[in-house]
Amino acid sequence: MPLRQKHLLGIEELTLDEIELILNTSRSFKEISTRPIKKVPTLRGKSLINLFYEPSTRTRSSFEIAAKRLGADSINVDVSQSSVTKGESLIDTGKNLESMSPDIIAVRHSSAGAPHLLSQYCETACIVNAGDGMHEHPTQALLDALTILDHKKKIEGLKVAIVGDIAHSRVARSNVLLLGKMGANVWVCGPPTLIPMEFEIYGVKVTYHMKEALEGADVIMMLRTQRERQSEVFFPSVKEYFALYGLDTKKMGWARRSAIVMHPGPINRGVEIAPELAEAGYSVIFEQVANGVAVRMAVLYLLLGASEEPGL
Ligand code: CP
Repeated sequence: MPLRQKHLLGIEELTLDEIELILNTSRSFKEISTRPIKKVPTLRGKSLINLFYEPSTRTRSSFEIAAKRLGADSINVDVSQSSVTKGESLIDTGKNLESMSPDIIAVRHSSAGAPHLLSQYCETACIVNAGDGMHEHPTQALLDALTILDHKKKIEGLKVAIVGDIAHSRVARSNVLLLGKMGANVWVCGPPTLIPMEFEIYGVKVTYHMKEALEGADVIMMLRTQRERQSEVFFPSVKEYFALYGLDTKKMGWARRSAIVMHPGPINRGVEIAPELAEAGYSVIFEQVANGVAVRMAVLYLLLGASEEPGL
């Protein structure tokens, strides 16, 4: 089997070799999206179900596109129109969907551990974590690593500054784990109220000062303030937040001239990033989205244990 596990539940479970395998496979799949006919028959006859309990623009559509580009069928379950509204549990929903013989179920849920739970009850389908609460978002970290490697020769030794709402961010957690495994020098920065006390255990440097985080940074990863997960007020005002932790051209001057700016999306222009910065030359935000398709193609391909050469 190309991957040791049947499911992709988090970066934590992946070895460095498996991460590199996914990234290398993603690279070979990128070219398919540039063809006039963006489809190969590699996963013909396979099927993916997207089971998203939380909203998504990028992750859900890129899983769907990835499946279709590989010739698989993909189905989106509209949870708001499903029997979840009648009280059906996650486990029952998963088991009923599995009865229709999908090969993969991609799950997004507001509760940490939901995909792990489902993986214990589903016997045939592979479960992919498409974001679970504040825990992990493994395919996001993988596409972020692929994007960094498109611009930098290697990740080892790079200074990566992750700025914003660290406490509520599954993207931050997955990236800290992945970039740490790949040897980056990771800094996290945000208001003290938005960085968990124990975060240094992940081997990152913690600072509450953006200048310290950005000085000499090769990669700046900005995060959205996740209001939907915040039960209390963590900063006095958006104006003050942007002044201290929002990225603008002045603060960009603290980073290396070759620094790239990333954001997992959705962007809140004027809150964590100046409105015009997403389109600036150093921004790779839309490249991240494009790489999301390639990474999800690779994940589907590798989990389904396809034995053929990927570059058809
Ligand atoms: N980055 C990300 O997970 O975006 P979506 O919420 O739109 O899927």
